[in-house]
Amino acid sequence: MRIAVTGSIATDYLMVFPGKFTDQLVADQLEQVSLSFLIDRLDVRRGGVAGNISYGLGSLGLRPVLVGAVGADFDEYRAWLDQHGVDTRAVHVSDTQHTARFLCTTDSTNNQIASFYSGAMSETRNIQLTSVIDQAGALDLVLIGASDPEGMIQHTEQCRELGLPFAADFSQQIARMEATEVAKLVPGAAYLFTNEYEAGLLLEKTGWTRDDVLAQVGTWITTLGAAGVRYETRDADPVTVPSVPAKQEVDPTGIGDAFRVGFFAAQSWKLSIERSLQFGCLLATTVLETLGPQEYRIDADAFVRRLADAYGEESGAELKPFLTTG
Ligand SMILES: Nc1ncnc2c1ncn2[C@@H]1O[C@H](COP(=O)(O)OP(=O)(O)OP(=O)(O)O)[C@@H](O)[C@H]1O
Ligand SMILES: [Mg+2]
Repeated sequence: MRIAVTGSIATDYLMVFPGKFTDQLVADQLEQVSLSFLIDRLDVRRGGVAGNISYGLGSLGLRPVLVGAVGADFDEYRAWLDQHGVDTRAVHVSDTQHTARFLCTTDSTNNQIASFYSGAMSETRNIQLTSVIDQAGALDLVLIGASDPEGMIQHTEQCRELGLPFAADFSQQIARMEATEVAKLVPGAAYLFTNEYEAGLLLEKTGWTRDDVLAQVGTWITTLGAAGVRYETRDADPVTVPSVPAKQEVDPTGIGDAFRVGFFAAQSWKLSIERSLQFGCLLATTVLETLGPQEYRIDADAFVRRLADAYGEESGAELKPFLTTG
């Protein structure tokens, strides 16, 4: 199964300030702020939802096609993704803007000052899926992840026109979108992904009932944090799959993306929905236990053991043949 992953591609610059921001903010001088914090740690992490998801699918041997827009500064990130089995040929490189970046400084009391520069991401809307197919070959599924809202809508419409199955995965971007925009992303989706908060927001913004949503999509998958994941279709009762217990919770960045990786890898191996949800939960927990969204490795033996412990021997045994080459 050839999957194209559209969505944000970004680099996170995470800085740690050993003092307290509030010590430097003078209450009666807030009209003119000019502050500089001396940082003692900088972590640079490759991220963006499409970057994260394609990294995982590539690492599992699925050769995903990454679709998104970046700047001329993308070379190092591209080399990393190429090394991990991602087809990056269809990535659009902007002539004028840098790759999106998230700059965040955290102080000793966990207060944060952050900025997000979307940069080249707005050029995602210039990418035509027909050109992606010309370059990368036929596609079986397009995941429409969070990115430039206009680009998300256009890619969804192109999927419908081309008769290409697609997954609606707007995640946090729904908070910034108008109801009319959100409503364009859902109809006809083979899969719809939300977390619980986004599920509520979807109903609130569109005025749809759960049944209205289910009438428009194949499968609706809602992640429930530590409580696992629920999946619903119009003809059956909802099913909940528990999460894989985490040994330690190190960094939640990218757990939702990792869930999609496991889910779609198992779907492409023709495993059942329930098995795919279990593998999604395992990948999510793996990322929760790792610092950074793209720093985990595929450890076939450990994966099989953990699936067996969490969901029974059969679960591990069914996934084993696909993991040994990963
Ligand atoms: N504390 C936890 N322990 C074990 N697994 C967890 C925990 N929190 C989340 N997960 C796993 O991660 C999946 C996705 O979690 P969640 O619903 O929080 O996604 P999200 O809100 O989209 O996350 P993101 O911050 O990446 O956007 C869950 O379905 C579950 O499998
Ligand atoms: Mg999410």
